[in-house]
Amino acid sequence: MAAAAAGAVGFASLSAIAASPETVTLEDGSKTQKGAKPEDGKWMTPDGEPTYRVKPDGTLDWYAYSGFRRYHSECHVCHGPEGEGSTYAPALKDSLKTMSYGDFIGVVASGRVRHLPGGQESVMPALGDNKNVMCYIDDIYVYLKARADGAVGRGRPVGRDDKPTGAIEFDKACFGE
Ligand code: HEC
Repeated sequence: MAAAAAGAVGFASLSAIAASPETVTLEDGSKTQKGAKPEDGKWMTPDGEPTYRVKPDGTLDWYAYSGFRRYHSECHVCHGPEGEGSTYAPALKDSLKTMSYGDFIGVVASGRVRHLPGGQESVMPALGDNKNVMCYIDDIYVYLKARADGAVGRGRPVGRDDKPTGAIEFDKACFGE
């Protein structure tokens, strides 16, 4: 019993470390992840993963704003508004406190089925063939990551940056236009 309790405490402190937001405040008051830099308006972490930039007045970078919109057209019916979760599907603003970028993409693309007691199933559909999801998966990720890190609150963002040239070209290529 004592050993189990000690194990539980160890686990709790580990997840507390993993859950602590890596958000930093830049000189101009904007929030982003530690060490992130913009490349043509797309903020990237030192690990090469996409991330957000939130100005002090709440203006989002283009990709995080796009993610807000795409999340609310493709995910919120199950996962609730602003990643808050529902009785049906988990709160992604909590999931992304610990879930890695790679795992996130994997679950969205391949889906997941969990068997519940009583023979029921909890199903995350595989969305890998849905271009309206996969062409914007980085955008959805950075919006939810900003929610998870507490950099973005609930509600509609106050504004966004202009669409970068890279985003216009990426859309065309992704949709095969
Ligand atoms: C038809 C309902 C439905 C839609 C639409 C849906 N999901 Fe899910 N999703 C679920 C359910 C249910 C689960 C939980 C599966 C389980 O029990 O393992 C889930 C799980 C997940 C997980 C794993 C969360 C965790 O904590 O492990 C991620 C990530 C996820 N969904 C992302 C998305 C994204 C992003 C979208 C939109 C592009 C989306 N989902 C759209 C129902 C849905």
